[in-house]
Amino acid sequence: MGSCNQQSRLGVLCIAASIIQEKPLPFIVLHGIGDECKNHGLYQFTQLLINTSGAVGFCIEIGDGAGDSFFMRLDKQADLVCDQVKEIPELQSGYNIVGLSQGNVIGRAVIEFCDSGPPVHNFVSLGGPHAGTASIPGCAAMSLCWVATALIRLGVYSSFVQNHLAPSGYVKIPDDLDAYYKGCLFLPKLNNEIASNWNATYKDRLSSLNHLVLIMFEHDTVLIPRETAWFGYYGEEQNSVVQTPQETRLYKEDWVGLRALDEAGRVSYVSFPGDHLRITKAEVDEYVIPHLRTSKNASLL
Ligand SMILES: *[C@@H]1O[C@H](CO)[C@@H](O)[C@H](O)[C@H]1NC(C)=O
Ligand SMILES: *[C@@H]1O[C@H](CO)[C@@H](O)[C@H](O)[C@H]1NC(C)=O
Repeated sequence: MGSCNQQSRLGVLCIAASIIQEKPLPFIVLHGIGDECKNHGLYQFTQLLINTSGAVGFCIEIGDGAGDSFFMRLDKQADLVCDQVKEIPELQSGYNIVGLSQGNVIGRAVIEFCDSGPPVHNFVSLGGPHAGTASIPGCAAMSLCWVATALIRLGVYSSFVQNHLAPSGYVKIPDDLDAYYKGCLFLPKLNNEIASNWNATYKDRLSSLNHLVLIMFEHDTVLIPRETAWFGYYGEEQNSVVQTPQETRLYKEDWVGLRALDEAGRVSYVSFPGDHLRITKAEVDEYVIPHLRTSKNASLL
């Protein structure tokens, strides 16, 4: 776009046009367990978002990729993302996050825990285990899975498993909540679930998002229950019943700012018909791309 000539009678219009056409904020993609930025599918997905939105985008790799996504503690994974987002010059005046599956709890940890990182504007969450999951994500076809399964036998809330198996950080067994609160190192902190450790900073940071898009897959066979993608989960007393996000204590007592965001009209609850992360191009165009097109100044909802 050409530079505006202030003397021109069209100067004002020209400036207005440059605000409207301002380059959209850059985004990062945070992938799920067992995936890697260099994998064909993920590479194509990131390129598609870049091409369609016109924004600069980065797939952020954590450690060695697939291996570390399985075996590195999630708070450490989030620390590594925090370091990277501070280093990428394009991100410094703000950026958007697109999360896939496990990448969503890492993304949220970056928003909540990353001190003096650049601000996150919009967060588009595809199939995130935000309220936990009642079983280890089904890793049927994955070569590393037997290790994960063997680790789980040691007890999901044992200190060894918590330190060496990433998804143990968001496994929330509905009829073993005491063990979860005592032993689980990641999700109780991320969701501000433990009153004595409640940290207002996490809530302030999450509720300062411009927009949170929570996408659930109606036939999700990986996340149990699938409503966790919307922050819905099994009730604490009646643990066979899935509560809507609004019925949970996390929401009612607003532990992390979800309710504040929702009441400000800044949360979209979206559901796609397929299995976990089965996304069509049309769905991307309709529900993801618009949130990657906003620039910082045009921060309308
Ligand atoms: C994105 O655009 C590049 C350059 O125009 C093109 O080579 C590539 O095939 C496109 N990829 C996708 C997934 O749209
Ligand atoms: C809350 O979290 C922030 C950000 O990580 C940290 O700086 C602060 O010390 C924490 N506060 C408490 C009371 O733990």
